[in-house]
Order: sequence, then C-alpha cells, then structure tokens
Amino acid sequence: MSTFQAPKGTYDLTPPRSATFLAVREAISAPLRDSGYGYIETPGFENVELFARGVGESTDIVTKEMYTLTTKGGSQLALRPEGTASVLRAALEANLHKAGNLPVKLWYSGSYYRYERPQAGRYRHFSQVGAEAIGTEDPALDAELIILADQAYRSLGLRQFRILLNSLGDKECRPVYREALQSFLRDLDLDEETRRRIEINPLRVLDDKRADVQKQLTDAPKLRDYLCDACKAYHEEVRALLTAAGVAFEDDEKLVRGLDYYTRTTFEFVHDGLGSQSAVGGGGRYDGLSEMIGGPVLPSVGWALGVDRTVLALEAEGVELDLPATTSVYAVPLGEEARRVLFGVVTELRRAGIAADFAFGGRGLKGAMKSANRSGARYTLVAGERDLAEGVVQLKDMESGEQSAVPLTEAAAELAKRLG
Ligand code: HAM
Repeated sequence: MSTFQAPKGTYDLTPPRSATFLAVREAISAPLRDSGYGYIETPGFENVELFARGVGESTDIVTKEMYTLTTKGGSQLALRPEGTASVLRAALEANLHKAGNLPVKLWYSGSYYRYERPQAGRYRHFSQVGAEAIGTEDPALDAELIILADQAYRSLGLRQFRILLNSLGDKECRPVYREALQSFLRDLDLDEETRRRIEINPLRVLDDKRADVQKQLTDAPKLRDYLCDACKAYHEEVRALLTAAGVAFEDDEKLVRGLDYYTRTTFEFVHDGLGSQSAVGGGGRYDGLSEMIGGPVLPSVGWALGVDRTVLALEAEGVELDLPATTSVYAVPLGEEARRVLFGVVTELRRAGIAADFAFGGRGLKGAMKSANRSGARYTLVAGERDLAEGVVQLKDMESGEQSAVPLTEAAAELAKRLG
C-alpha cells in the first residue's frame, strides 16, 4: 500500500472535480432554503444506541455496516451511517418541536459512513444533502419534499432519473400484512439466512435481488391489498399532489428501503446510467421514529440525496455544469519592485470583492502566463520595471487578447468597471 493512498472505499475530492461537488450541494440545498428549511449540523458520531433503536436492529446498516468504537471513557459510539436519527435527536434535544411552529423543517449536508463492500458508486465514506420535516402529518409535506428533490435534480440538468413511490402502511395495517407475508414466505424454498430474515424483517425479502428468489415471490401477498383506508387515502393524496405538480413517478410496491423507521410514503430517486448502485436519493415518512428513540409522537418525513452518486449521474448523462471561473484577475509581476506593487493591487482588488490571484514564486513570464490561462481569469495584469517607471500596468483581456496600458493608480477601478 502506498503511503499516499486513501483508505479502502474512500476517495479524496480535489480540484477541479471538487468544484462540481460544491455546486451539487448548493443546487440540492437551494430549493430547500427557499422553502423554509433551516440549516442543521450534528456531530459525525452518536451513541450507538440511537442508530440501533432508530435505524433498526435488524437492518444491514446496523448489523453489518456501522463503524463503532469504544471511547477511552467507555462510551459506545458509531460514526453516523445516516442523518435522520441524528437530526431528530438534535431537534428533540433543542426542543425545536416545542417552539410552536410545526413542522420543524431542517436541511443538512455532510459525510456518512457505512462499512459496505466498495464498488462503483458505493463507498465507505460518502456525502449526502438531506431534509427532514418534523412533527406534521400532511400529504402535502411528503409531496413538497419529493417536488423539491425533483426541482433540485432538474436545476442541475439531470433528466434520466425516475421517482419510485410506495406506501408501507402504518402501525395498524403493516403488522397484518407482515404476518400474511411471513406465512407465505415460510413455505418457500429459501436458504438459512433468508429464513432468518423472514422472522426479523420479512419485507426485506421482497427486495432480494436473486432471480430464483424473485421467481418464488410472484404470488406473494401485496402490501397494497392490506393498506388501511387512512393509509390508502393518504397515499392517494400524495400521488394526486405530485401529479398536479407535473412530477412524474412510478408506483413500485417492491420499494421497501433499507431502514426500519419508514411508515406510509417511501420513495427513491433512481438514475438509469449508474448500473447496480442506481439510487441517487431516497426517503419517506417516519411517523414512529421519535417514539422509537424515546421522544413524543412526531410524525415526520424526509429524504437524503447522495452527492457522490449525483455527480456520477451528471457524468453519466454528460452534463457539464456551468461553473464560472473562480479567479477574475491574475497578476503577473516581472521583477522585485513589480512584485511588491502588484501584490498591493491584488490585495486592493480582493478587498473590493474582485476575485484575484497572483503569480507566486517569482516565475518567468511564460510560466506565469500559463498559470494565468489555467486560472480562467478574464484579465491579467502584467508589470515590469519599464511599466512601473511610466506609472502604468499592462491590462490584458484574456478573451479578446487585447492589451492596453492603464495608470497604476487606476488599475483597480478600471477592473472593477470592466468586470461590472
Ligand atoms: P439511504 O437510502 O440509505 O437513506 O441513503 C440516501 C442516499 O445516500 C442513497 O440514495 C445514495 O445516493 C446515498 N448513499 C447511501 N449509501 C451510500 C454509499 N455507501 N456510497 C455512496 N452513496 C451512498 C438515508 O440515508 C435516509 N436517512 C434518508 C431519509 C431522510 N429518510 C428520511 N429522511
């Protein structure tokens, strides 16, 4: 292993690609910020207990994929594998739900950790932007979140994604379905591990990717047929609101998701250019999670979109984001005196809010001009001894190639004018 290698299943974000990640986070969060969601940040680790209770003792995430550690003081912690349990915990701790303004709408952006088998689009350290609307049961809230994610993806230029939608029922109707499904599954020809899963989390068996398992599931009881009237009406309303908003979705009764806290609405955004790790985002309603972690009744809904996979989806579709150059002016000094003078101009420009950079390290004109080009700057400022003697700097428009001498004292003002 090379000393410079990032740990297995992780990778570094470096320029220029890192700029795309920032732009994706910005694009996903912009519609949320415009819709009343406030920013929340929680620690990178929590007590293991929170995820065991919240995400679910029977899920792969908790049983196989959590990075857990014991502190020197003896606390059992886990690097966060997801954001929902943490955000709800933080909202409860801060009593946000008691401030009288429900739903509490929050958005977040950060790193998450799952000890998964790494492959294209699946990492052990990945990044999500998420949103949670806590404390209100209203189909319009479910619809709002799906519409905002759709809007975010469209604003990035993504087109080849689909929205899969399902309802998992509630604490009234799901247990009845669960039992019916269990008795159906128990009669099938399945391996030991899957048999164990039938007893702990039978809905997950529906999610089995193996063809021989799927073949046996053709006649499995359908959750749709077991939904209670309240769940059915709720789901119909979510569907109607999405349709009215012009957001296309596909009903997918196999969509069960990998976390135990979901009730009623569940959804996933999948991208067709990504191969097996096609889910770019997912979420749903979690009306029981607050109670599961010891809080009051707080019906809630949310989603998280994977930033890594969203970037892969952009690449798969060949979408190039229109990222403006970060530097507007690049200064190239020729000689010691010019270094001092131009460094002063660069500082003045920056203080005036103009993005400027400088050819550090005393390189020659050719090398410095290459850096100027690479920076994407619209203008370069070049000055040598003769220019300074005349009290001017050479101002070059990198687009037109035009160059003119500008009085040194007016350089900053002239650039401010030209850059609007
Ligand atoms: P999730 O479906 O587990 O949901 O993750 C959401 C997204 O995070 C996935 O669709 C995917 O894009 C990305 N993701 C997950 N695992 C990985 C990985 N190993 N490598 C790369 N990307 C990954 C949740 O996490 C829920 N907390 C969402 C939610 C919020 N539900 C309600 N509120």
